[in-house]
Amino acid sequence: MDRWQTIIEPFRIHSVEPIRMTTVAEREAALKTAGYNLFNVHAADVIIDLLTDSGTGAMSRDQWAAIQHGDESYAGSPSWYRFLEAVQNLFPFKHVIPTHQGRAAEKILFSVVGSPGKVVPNNAHFDTTRANVEYTGAEAVDLTPPQDPQAILPFKGDMDVAALERLIQERGVGSIPVVFMTVTNNSMGGQPVSMANLRAVRDVCNRHGLPLFLDACRFAENAWFIKERETGYADKKIPDIVREMASFADGMTMSAKKDGLANIGGWLAMNDDSLAERCRNMLILTEGFPTYGGLAGRDLEAIAQGLEEVVEEDYLRYRIQSTAYLGEALAASDVPVILPIGGHAVYIDARRLLSHITPLEYPGHSLAVELYHEGGIRGVEIGTVMFGRHPDGTETAASMDLVRLAVPRRTYTQSHIDYVIEVVQFVARRASALRGYRITHEPPALRHFTARFEPL
Ligand code: F0G
Repeated sequence: MDRWQTIIEPFRIHSVEPIRMTTVAEREAALKTAGYNLFNVHAADVIIDLLTDSGTGAMSRDQWAAIQHGDESYAGSPSWYRFLEAVQNLFPFKHVIPTHQGRAAEKILFSVVGSPGKVVPNNAHFDTTRANVEYTGAEAVDLTPPQDPQAILPFKGDMDVAALERLIQERGVGSIPVVFMTVTNNSMGGQPVSMANLRAVRDVCNRHGLPLFLDACRFAENAWFIKERETGYADKKIPDIVREMASFADGMTMSAKKDGLANIGGWLAMNDDSLAERCRNMLILTEGFPTYGGLAGRDLEAIAQGLEEVVEEDYLRYRIQSTAYLGEALAASDVPVILPIGGHAVYIDARRLLSHITPLEYPGHSLAVELYHEGGIRGVEIGTVMFGRHPDGTETAASMDLVRLAVPRRTYTQSHIDYVIEVVQFVARRASALRGYRITHEPPALRHFTARFEPL
């Protein structure tokens, strides 16, 4: 395939879903009703939905077929054993605990290991991960080094190993129940973590006797970047790279809504018997029996099949190239985006594009609303609305104000993406006319989901 420039989707369309076309006036009305919060907009009023790549992908023919094999036995269903084998084939942890999605795995783990005075280091916590750590009274610390968003470096998701070492010295080994590595690093632009960095973090953990867990939502995309960018991996098979990543960890949390290629699901896995027992007890209270967790047998089947498809090289090549196609087209027309382009999403630097709007007037929010207003495209602000408010009620600017355009897996064609490019270019040319926002109502935590806004 290397002779040709055009990216072709390595699948044909087997079943289609209509997209309802809306007008600017209809979208203006939808925005007013939604309190200018794109999470409140009806999905039927969205033309291209890039809110998230989580659970929004298309399942394959073989996944739908697997669903028909779903066995709904309460205990010990054959679907559970198929799921367990598929998970352990890539992540050979001793205990696998199925959950209804990633944050349920986080909730169980942190309610067992977190408490006031504890601190959890991560290269960068995703919002639900941070919230689940903080909910226990523990502190969530991000250790990705500060970086130039435009600098083209292969592994900008890496953890600052020296900063981890300092944190351990300052806070003491006893206050750190677990060290986390998020692959790929979603909050920092979908950037990958190198095998060398995983190995280095493992060394630090070994020296201090600390367990290391992966937040592995986008493990296959991360493995593809390692194959493409890290010396010594070009000829390795993706499943082998994934198993090597797993070999540095003592456990993982997972959202199967990303690289499980499923619409729902997740798991928690680990080697430690006593930790597993405490987590399973919590699972039974909140999710379900240990052989189905929060899932139906048919969901377990869809995930098991998805895990086979997600490590296929034709799929991953297309996946990573098509995200880059969107990002590189925007970069070429001088829209500031985080470089290099990450695996699952393109992140527009709204603070830079809308430099006339101060962070506390939410430039990322303003840009996201305008992309919807003009083109019916729904992205998500990852910035001061999402991260600016602290548990004590104070507000400061987040480290960046971004708009993430997340690409659902196997869902949109290149012409959909060409439309997105056209709309973003149009809005970017008129950026100086956009104005900031003010929050009129907000809940105490995870405010971005339900806050209401007013244009300034
Ligand atoms: N960890 C990371 C890195 C994530 O990106 C997500 C979800 C989760 C954990 C939680 O998983 O949604 O199954 O409970 N990220 C989605 C997103 C929602 O849009 O990035 P979940």
